[in-house]
Amino acid sequence: MSGSPALAHLVAGNVGGHPLERFWSMAVRPVLRLGDPGLRQRASPIPQDGFGGSQLSSLITDLRDTMAALDGAGLAAPQIGVPWRVVIYGIHQNPRYPEAPPIPETVLINPRLTPMGTATQLGWEGCLSVPGLRGLVSRWQSLHLAWRDPLGVEREAVVEGFHARVVQHECDHLDGVLFPDRLHDPLAFGFQEELRAAGCL
Ligand code: NI
Repeated sequence: MSGSPALAHLVAGNVGGHPLERFWSMAVRPVLRLGDPGLRQRASPIPQDGFGGSQLSSLITDLRDTMAALDGAGLAAPQIGVPWRVVIYGIHQNPRYPEAPPIPETVLINPRLTPMGTATQLGWEGCLSVPGLRGLVSRWQSLHLAWRDPLGVEREAVVEGFHARVVQHECDHLDGVLFPDRLHDPLAFGFQEELRAAGCL
């Protein structure tokens, strides 16, 4: 990871000892928007020697801060211009998703998804990289999820429903895929306000 200018920059931005350092370094980073080629790359796995270090923890802090500042349900490292296979998600009374069930904050590194069964579900999705828009997307209902945590420990879980949808959406970002690529119906896509006014949301 030491060869990454983006990560080197992240670490430099978080050095400091002032009492307000935490506040100043609360790194809310710009989120790339649809059309930026940085969103279309395949991200690289975190190598073995990347776990437990300051570069990865700085990246996770920035993802957490940026997601919180923008009321996101999840955020993937490529969305802040860092081409590594790291995502964060979690929902706790999110105004962008008022009906969504709570999901504890989770950091997935080098995640692997395996659908369980063939059942799919339709649901509306949005994305901080596609601001203001929502689209109807079909996702696997149930997944086996394997990943490494920030210390490198292997973890696994079965996730379902909305939780599974968030995982699939975020992990798509690691392969350069955004939700408009997966629209169930091109007509079920538009600005959130208009869709809400039309009774779709
Ligand atoms: Ni997204």
